[in-house]
Amino acid sequence: MSDWQKSDWRAKPRVQMPDYVDAAALAGVESQLAKYPPLVFAGEARRLKAQLGAASRGEAFLLQGGDCAESFEQFSADGIRDTFKVMLQMAMVLTYGAKVPVIKVGRMAGQFAKPRSAPTEVIEGVELPSYRGDIINELAFTAEARIPDPARMLQAYTQAAATLNLLRAFSTGGFADMNRVHSWTLGFADGDKTERYHELARRIQDTIDFMSAAGITAETTHEFSTVEFYTSHESLLLEYEEALTRLDSTSGNWLAGSGHMIWIGDRTRQPDGAHVEFARGVLNPIGLKCGPSMTTEDLKILLARLNPENEAGRLTLIARFGAGSVGEHLPRLIRTVAEEGANVVWTCDPMHGNTIKSSSGYKTRPFESVLREVREFFAVHAAEGSVPGGVHFEMTGQDVTECTGGIHAVTDEDLSDRYHTACDPRLNASQSLELAFLVAEELTQRRNNANDRAVG
Ligand code: PEP
Ligand code: CO
Repeated sequence: MSDWQKSDWRAKPRVQMPDYVDAAALAGVESQLAKYPPLVFAGEARRLKAQLGAASRGEAFLLQGGDCAESFEQFSADGIRDTFKVMLQMAMVLTYGAKVPVIKVGRMAGQFAKPRSAPTEVIEGVELPSYRGDIINELAFTAEARIPDPARMLQAYTQAAATLNLLRAFSTGGFADMNRVHSWTLGFADGDKTERYHELARRIQDTIDFMSAAGITAETTHEFSTVEFYTSHESLLLEYEEALTRLDSTSGNWLAGSGHMIWIGDRTRQPDGAHVEFARGVLNPIGLKCGPSMTTEDLKILLARLNPENEAGRLTLIARFGAGSVGEHLPRLIRTVAEEGANVVWTCDPMHGNTIKSSSGYKTRPFESVLREVREFFAVHAAEGSVPGGVHFEMTGQDVTECTGGIHAVTDEDLSDRYHTACDPRLNASQSLELAFLVAEELTQRRNNANDRAVG
């Protein structure tokens, strides 16, 4: 984009970004980051974009998931491994249901900055600035901890680089072998409460056995033992994003070097605002959160601004309306997209519209509501004749108790046991996998309906 500069966002109104008090310290961090290598390369972002283009046509399906907010304190190899592992399990179940490739994108290696619903937080009569993610300030409830510190961007960069390094190693180093991945899932599906999933798990095993017998194994076939895994985060902290933005010499276009895919949050998608201005100029695939306040007028402007060439795979619309509200909002937005003839990937984030305060005082999300929103999303797409292209979850591979429900029935009282999130409540490993089975059922249903129509 020849008329665009990576600093142009600075002239636009900005929301949800910190006011750093020490301008010299900020400038120092920015110039340091600008000298560091980008975390991803343009060819990878283009490859992901092409795959998302397939998802927009129903020829692939997007699985995007990970922490609400990555944490400096909880950073560990085990944490990365466990989330990666569950995403691979989910992807295999979804592939079986969808019968198309599943594109795996982590909310990982850069998901550090958080928009907040209120600028301050009050605890026992004390009011302090809100926590805005580890890249900006600290979660501890003290005045000092809540001061935005630009040096935290350097730590976030280092953590993102180390995370991505491990993800790349896991993707190709033998960890992702299909046999191993499915054996973990069999363990889950063999329980008493998971009877409903036995049959699907068994059919996947049969398929793997058949392929092995035919000579398709991790030893003979690259696809059997390696996966492609991409990273994504909300591009909220624009000083960090700008500093990692680089010119791609092959195409002459700008790349956000902080991750493969970036998205614009529901609170920062003002068409004339700083976040849209930044995202419109980079070549990466872009996500756009669409909550109940998204108007059809704004959506039209955003489609044109974020994807002027109507490139397939460039724009993913992440619907997050809340269970019970999908029918009110999604059809009008699907019709707007259709009227504009816009190429988009429609995905469902059943997390952010379903956050409630539990009776025990914790922020939680009932598994039932999450599941219900997913079902509503599929039902609306079936009715509108549009393509449900993917799902977007806040989840972790750890055995946390943050969302209620699921086969192990986490209750309100259980929430205090292992509530570790730095921000929003995440699905735990078992809830994530259960949800994948349920989404796979929706996808199977959709294929059966399509086949019936083709025959009838
Ligand atoms: C998020 O994805 O963590 C988030 C804050 O989402 P939204 O912008 O949709 O509220
Ligand atoms: Co969140």
